[in-house]
Amino acid sequence: MPPLLQSRSLRVYADNLEYLDQTRLPQAEQWQRCDTPDAWQSAVKNLAIRGAPLIGLSAAFVLAQTAARHPNGDWQSVSDRLRATRPTAVNLMYCLDAMEACFEQGVAALAERAAELFAEDRALCQRMAERGADLLQSGDRVLTHCNTGALATAGVGTAIGALAIAKQRGVALHVYVDETRPLLQGGRLTAWEMADLDIPYQLIADSMAASLMAAGKVDKVMVGADRICANGDFANKVGTYMLAVAAHYHNVPFYVVAPYTTVDPACASGSDIPIEQRDAAEIRGASGAFGDVVWAPENAPVWNPAFDVTPATLVTAWVLDTGIFDAAAIARGEHCQGRGER
Ligand code: MRU
Repeated sequence: MPPLLQSRSLRVYADNLEYLDQTRLPQAEQWQRCDTPDAWQSAVKNLAIRGAPLIGLSAAFVLAQTAARHPNGDWQSVSDRLRATRPTAVNLMYCLDAMEACFEQGVAALAERAAELFAEDRALCQRMAERGADLLQSGDRVLTHCNTGALATAGVGTAIGALAIAKQRGVALHVYVDETRPLLQGGRLTAWEMADLDIPYQLIADSMAASLMAAGKVDKVMVGADRICANGDFANKVGTYMLAVAAHYHNVPFYVVAPYTTVDPACASGSDIPIEQRDAAEIRGASGAFGDVVWAPENAPVWNPAFDVTPATLVTAWVLDTGIFDAAAIARGEHCQGRGER
């Protein structure tokens, strides 16, 4: 039976879900079944399912399918459990709010709403990616962080979406890919997507970005976001902030590309964003389809925040599906318009 809906990393069937296990890429393309909230929680916690939009969309389908299996169950407590799984990316809250608003309409309405969210994300990706691509010219050397492509969304992606659309338009880019700690989402996933898109790229360790800019080799930085505040501060994968500081110092334009579903008007500034702390093992070593490696002394003390916050003052422009916003537009709150009304 073909899936009812499909993206690069998600296959939706009538009563179950499959995800492409992102911890195994690029060495192995393994699809896993996910038909319970427990299975979803563990896949999301270990980053087999990851990327802000994908986390929210997959939660919506799991909630709809769990409700269909348990029509008299406590849907609210299922939603609460899903919601608590990863606290930083607000797309999860956006999708679960939308689903909870349909609880009274029953099981069929939940399935329909999840499908609508999936279609919406695909359309949002296309719109923001086109706007992001408008900022790119042939010859640009673009530095990106983490993975923001088709693997992380229902569509073409956010920051990587902009690179993909530019490529489709014949714009010749060179992309620097930050390897991205802790799970090497850049080194494993973005490098794989660049090859898939046929975009020339070079992989760098995160700690090389500043000297690459000092050497005059970076024209633009484009990253995604997990939550954008009312004042324009935003959370993204840890390492984004130091990129923004380095870009500011070297006068390199720094763009954030995200859907309106990543904007959280209820968060006044970055200090209101909850930041997920992760397991020490991710910093003491690494594991994947390549095996397990431990390099630190056993029990080495670790600080492992999954995300950091970049202040609005370091951002050149916020590229959303709804428009490209500069600091003045952000100060007027224009990026928040429509949030909560759709
Ligand atoms: O921990 P991850 O891999 O889910 O973090 C992902 C990011 O930080 C992305 O930049 C963000 O979710 C935007 S993805 C389109």
